Formats: sequence, structure tokens, C-alpha cells
Amino acid sequence: MQPTETTFDLDYSMRRRLGYMLVDKINEYYGSLSHRAVQLPRRQRRSMYSPEPIPEWGEDPEITFERVFDDLLEKGFHIASANYLGLMNPTPTFISVLAETLVAALNPQLASVERSAAASSIERQTVDWVGQRIGWKQRFGGTFTTGGSEANLTALQLALVKLNPAVIDCGLRSLKAPAVFYASSESHHSLDKAAGMLGLGRHALRRIEVTDQMQIDLDRLERAIRSDLERGYLPFCVVGTAGTTNAGAIDNLMWMAEISKQYGLWFHVDGAYGAAVIFSDRYRSLAQGIELADSVSLDPHKWLAMPFSAGMLLTTHPELLRQAYGTKAPYLQASQSPELEDNFQISSQWSRRMNSLKLWMTLRVHGRVSYEALIDKQMKLAAGFAQWVNESKRFELVAPQVLPAIVFRVNLQNAGEAEIAAANRALVEEVNRSGQRWISLTTVAERSAIRTMVISYLTTETHVLELKNALLAAAERLIAPRQIFERSK
Ligand SMILES: Cc1ncc(COP(=O)(O)O)c(C=O)c1O
Repeated sequence: MQPTETTFDLDYSMRRRLGYMLVDKINEYYGSLSHRAVQLPRRQRRSMYSPEPIPEWGEDPEITFERVFDDLLEKGFHIASANYLGLMNPTPTFISVLAETLVAALNPQLASVERSAAASSIERQTVDWVGQRIGWKQRFGGTFTTGGSEANLTALQLALVKLNPAVIDCGLRSLKAPAVFYASSESHHSLDKAAGMLGLGRHALRRIEVTDQMQIDLDRLERAIRSDLERGYLPFCVVGTAGTTNAGAIDNLMWMAEISKQYGLWFHVDGAYGAAVIFSDRYRSLAQGIELADSVSLDPHKWLAMPFSAGMLLTTHPELLRQAYGTKAPYLQASQSPELEDNFQISSQWSRRMNSLKLWMTLRVHGRVSYEALIDKQMKLAAGFAQWVNESKRFELVAPQVLPAIVFRVNLQNAGEAEIAAANRALVEEVNRSGQRWISLTTVAERSAIRTMVISYLTTETHVLELKNALLAAAERLIAPRQIFERSK
């Protein structure tokens, strides 16, 4: 921009040119995603950071836009690629990308109904749809969050308020003993953070060991609750995970609900990843018991193919949301609608982005059955991959495959854990070296594992086959020579 042009107001034809440029580029990008490399080959990867001074004067928007787009395209890391096979971040539906653009342009402020009646109505409808799929027949409510971490934090806050509403004004000192809660050793670290943020302290989270199915050990859970009660602690919540981050395991939610009920504890389901199975009639029974939860976290920006960010917290105690977060804002008129809540009264956020439109539009345009088809297809691909691992002499499963997340490791005879971990690391590095595809490393119940996931709706049998070939080639290069060497010793 010329030094004289100090307004943000671009003229009609410039807006149009830039807008069309964006659409054309995104359109091309989407056309490339089925075969796009996830990142550059290892030797070409480097940071784009350069310590330049702040631009005092603007420059030509078309040139800037073109340059940054090309940089991000050529040097970026493409989660949206069909070859992104290592974590639970999806290819966003194209409709959701359009919805995001609309949200950015209209910039609705969902804090209050007064300023967002139309947008708040869409959001309420989206919450209704998800709650209905959970199977809730009773009254429920909820709110969109930035993601699963905020949703889990909110759930724990509600559980505390249920335990004693005085914590809102007087804090934890209104409790007669230190409050503690329970989740499996495989549950997400956002629970540790939440415990810290709520002032409970991270030690308040009792991490219970898992079975060889990677589900919380129910006997140990009950023993831990009893032991805490005997020692004068105040148990207040049990968290079940529907789709662990490491292995996609689903806790036995029915029994956890039963145990929670028996001890009068809040039952939260962290379904950030796996609760999406409720969208499939065929597979929803995997999360059986979710309908018994007091609250559920679900991240549409994981398995429901939404761009960041979109999380949800739903609860069958909607009045507690208002109790926990209700406050006064003298410059706003309270919602006059019996159906719509002012979002700032039911969440920790004040300014509130419309994170719901993308899911609402995807459901409107494609329908729930498209999610069912997606889930069914990915479950089939994952089952086929797990079977291949099982039958392979090079690899072995580390945990049973339940969702489209497969954790496995190299099969080294007579090797210790450290050696296997090193071999897994080398293998993942080798597979990721070209940049064409991406898988990840993790530790499942303290065992090193290679993690693959089928998460993109663009991933097909061909991508999975190419991954198998890449894994075998890497194993031949890295592991076979070692075994031959060992035999000849
Ligand atoms: C089971 C589970 N819960 C919570 C989270 C946190 O979600 P977010 O990254 O959206 O905050 C994750 C993220 O991977 C997760 O897998």
C-alpha cells in the first residue's frame, strides 16, 4: 500500500479480486488434498521465522496474499491431506470452510442474545442435535467451547458446583475436605491442567490404571474411591474417556455411570475424539452409557471434520452452567427469549465466536448420514489395517483397535523396551522422512507405540496400502539387517 493509504477499507474491485483469488486457491488446494504431501522432505524443512521489524507501511495486498499463501502451501504442514495419518485432526469439510469465512465476515458476537438472536438460534439448534444423538430424552443444554480442554475444565467446574454451590463465591475452602476426582491413566492431560486451574491441584486427579484393553480398571476405581472416602477426601467426579488420545480406547461407560451413581459422584464423559460415534447408528453402541453422563465433551474439530476450533460441552444440568458462570453486565439487556441463553452467562468466555455454524452447515448440507458413512468407512479401513498388523511378522498391536486409531510397534525378538522404543522412533522417522505421509509416536500404558489414525474423509484403501508399503520398506531397511546380524552372531 502507498504511504497515503492508511485505511483498511478496500474498494469494491479489490475486495472482489482478493476474494476470488482466495476461493480459487482454496479450491485448488482442496483438489490436491487426496495426493498432497503432508510436509517437505526432512532435509528441506526449516523455520520461516525471520526477525523483521514491524511493517510501518502496508504493501500490495495481492502480492502479500499470494506470497503468504504460496509459502504456507509449499512449506506448511498439511493436516488436511489424506496422508495425514498420525493424529486426530481432520480434513475440514469444504462447507465448514465457507461457514468459517462467513463467521469471520459477519463477526457475530454470541456473548448475548440481544446482539445475536439469529446466530444464537443456530447454535442452540446444533447443541440440540448433538444432545439428541447422545440419547438424552431429558432436558439438557450446552455451549460451544474452543475445544476439549475448555470443555473438560467446564465439566469439572460444574461437578464442583453440584458438590457445593458455595465454591463459586467462596472457593474451595467452602468444601469440608480436599476434593478429588478419577480418570484412567490413559485419559487426556487437559484433566491435569483443569485440576490445576480450578485450584484443586493436579494431585486431586486420581489416575487409575487401565486393563489390557486400555479401559479404566473398574475394581481399582472403586477401591480408590473407597480408600479416599476412608481417608477423609471428598470424591466428586468420575471421568470416563470415549476414545483415548493414545489408543482410541473407550472406557466401560455403563459401569462407570453405575459406580458414579452408587457413590453420588458427577459422571463426565470426555468424548472429545470418540463420542462422534453417536453419529453412526451402526457404531454408536461403542459409547453405550454416554447417555447416562451428567456432562459430555465432544470436539467437532476432531472426528466431525471441522476446522479449529470447535469443542462442545453438553450437560443434563443446564441450570448449573448459569449457576457457575452467571454474572452481571449492566450494559447488556438479558435475553428475552425463553429458549436462548446469553452465552456469557453459561460459559467462561465473554466475547464468543460462532463456532457452531460450520457444524450446523455441514449437517444441513450433507446430513447426519454422511457422518455415519464416514465413520463406517473409517472403521472398516482401521479394522483392515489392524488385521494386517496382526498378521505381519514385523509388527504387533499394542492395544486392541476399537476406533480408527491403531497403535502398534515393531516386533523385535528378545529386545527390551528401550530398544523397541528406539526402533519405533527410527521407523516413524523413516516413514515421515519424505514428507509424503505422516504418522506419530506415542506411549500406551507405558509401552512405546507407533500411532496411525484414519481421520480424513479423503483417506482411502490406497492411502492405507501406501502406508503399509512405506512401513514395510522402512522395516526392511532398519530392522531386517539387525535381525540378520543377530542370527549370524
Ligand atoms: C480425549 C481428549 N480429550 C481432550 C482433548 C483436548 O482437546 P483440545 O485439543 O480440543 O483442547 C483431546 C485432544 O486431543 C483428547 O484427545
